[in-house]
Amino acid sequence: MKLLVTGGAGFIGSNFILHILKTYPEYQVTNLDLLTYAGNLENLASLENDSRYRFVKGDIADRDLVDGLVASCDAVVHFAAESHVDRSIMNPNIFVETNVLGTQVLLDAAKKHGKRFHHISTDEVFGSLGPDDRAFSESTPYDPRSPYSASKAGADHLVRAYFHTYGLPVTISNCSNNYGPYHFPEKLIPLVITNLLEGKTAPVYGDGRQVRDWLHVEDHCRAIDRILHDGRLGETYCIGGDGERENIWIVKKIIEILGEGEDVIEYVEDRPGHDRRYAIDHKKITEELGWQPQVRLESGLEATVRWYQENQDWWKRVKSGAYQEYYEKQYQKR
Ligand code: NAD
Ligand code: DAU
Repeated sequence: MKLLVTGGAGFIGSNFILHILKTYPEYQVTNLDLLTYAGNLENLASLENDSRYRFVKGDIADRDLVDGLVASCDAVVHFAAESHVDRSIMNPNIFVETNVLGTQVLLDAAKKHGKRFHHISTDEVFGSLGPDDRAFSESTPYDPRSPYSASKAGADHLVRAYFHTYGLPVTISNCSNNYGPYHFPEKLIPLVITNLLEGKTAPVYGDGRQVRDWLHVEDHCRAIDRILHDGRLGETYCIGGDGERENIWIVKKIIEILGEGEDVIEYVEDRPGHDRRYAIDHKKITEELGWQPQVRLESGLEATVRWYQENQDWWKRVKSGAYQEYYEKQYQKR
């Protein structure tokens, strides 16, 4: 099978390409990625001389480029997006351009050439849960509350519209917070790990009691693999890690793994409109496709901390680039 993977130089996309080429030695992958601040070809350095893999630098909103690439693949797996909530609060425009309009360009090409399309989305489209609310499932109404989640919701609606209106063979997955290798260090887990390795503090928004469900990126990649091959067309699948924790629990666990003291915790100003709790009921994909998360959060976190300890060159290069400028600006405001 020939896959066109968008956003394959990012965190989840690069883990997915590595997973696919390891699991299916006969597959071919083309990676279309614009290499924004979040894209990093170092993640895929092991594939540089692999004839099954090809990298194309470009924008998913570039119709001519996308048309040619979609024409020559069997299926599109669409990860490319602006993915960071804090950035969407500072500059929503690029989120609409990439996440909504870029997705529509890909859908048009998939429609023209009759190609299978899998869209990667997020649990954030469902809004924010109270402590006793039932976990999100495929039937939860959409209620996005940040520019990021609104743009992802817009994309999801378009994908479904292309199924209902044009019969495009689509599937969608909405997953919870991923963690693992190659996670860009603006997100909570890699930010806290790398800050502590640099002797800095761990910034915690507000009271730190917000809840996220943590899914190891390898479990996520296995779930996408199952949906791509055996998911029912037109269907949505929710993917969760059975790892609901308060942010402060995560931060304290990383501190414990690294043998630091809790004085490194720094409570900072809260994120505007901060969603309180996300949780996922993954019964549908478990029952229909036999998938369930395999990595327990505690062991996954330990392995992730080890990865950042052993790959300091990777994140030090990332942190010293464009990211650093952004981070300083953000941090000074708090
Ligand atoms: P990421 O920010 O690490 O990577 C995004 C990739 O997309 C980068 O390589 C970037 O260069 C590329 N990209 C951005 N704009 C592009 C454009 N216009 N054209 C081509 N490439 C472009 O993101 P991630 O964390 O790997 O997330 C991947 C997908 O999964 C996103 O759609 C995101 O919304 C979704 N998602 C992420 C998480 C998570 O916890 N990280 C959870 C749920 C859903
Ligand atoms: O739920 C899925 C989503 O998870 C994905 O769709 C997004 O692409 C991904 O970025 C992630 O969004 P979050 O906003 O949940 O992730 P982030 O790592 O930015 O924040 C996790 C929690 O930690 C959130 O409650 C905010 C908090 N936080 C974050 C940062 C960066 C802090 O307390 N301090 C921080 O410095």
